[in-house]
Amino acid sequence: MLEALQKRRAIRQFEERSIEREKIEQLLEAATFAPNDRMREPWHFYVMQGESLKGYEKVALQFLEQRFPTKPHLVASSMEAITKTPLVIVVTSAIVEGDEGATKDNTFAVSSAIMSMWLMAEALGLGMVWRTRGVGLVHDTALHTYIGATEQEQLIGTLCIGYPAEEITSTKKRTSFVEKTTWL
Ligand SMILES: Cc1cc2nc3c(=O)[nH]c(=O)nc-3n(C[C@H](O)[C@H](O)[C@H](O)COP(=O)(O)O)c2cc1C
Repeated sequence: MLEALQKRRAIRQFEERSIEREKIEQLLEAATFAPNDRMREPWHFYVMQGESLKGYEKVALQFLEQRFPTKPHLVASSMEAITKTPLVIVVTSAIVEGDEGATKDNTFAVSSAIMSMWLMAEALGLGMVWRTRGVGLVHDTALHTYIGATEQEQLIGTLCIGYPAEEITSTKKRTSFVEKTTWL
């Protein structure tokens, strides 16, 4: 287990080929086993490939052009995160009205589910990165609206997935748990 956790990497370069339906379903199934408070199973998955992904491209382009009107090169390079990704899965978490604690717990559960998907992706020979910023559009309303999520859902992750076109063998230096732990 430790080896799998150490090897997991954020993969951002993908081959053009599409992902088999069976593998996508395995990713989604892996997510459903995540721990979650009171079995609310607060996740929902929006799967985009082909035409729907093209639509997301348009939404992201509009967002970037508005945000960086004087930086066309930045817009173009940022767009590659979507245009060169064969599969995007947006994961949302249920908002529990009037219960901030439960809403937070739902976010934690969905984050766990995303981590399960990340490890599952690697086990299936796929690469993945969890995006929130920029074209990830997690902190903006545009993607929420585009996918048709309800007001009772919040976006947690835009997962860019594909067959890896890069191999990252170096381990990113991590601070030892020793410095992050207080033994009480
Ligand atoms: C909540 C969350 C949000 C992230 N958002 C982005 C993002 O917007 N863009 C991006 O390129 N990577 C994003 N990442 C990936 C991190 O940059 C990456 O996990 C980190 O650099 C550590 O590298 P590793 O995953 O290869 O260990 C995000 C990761 C997490 C957990």
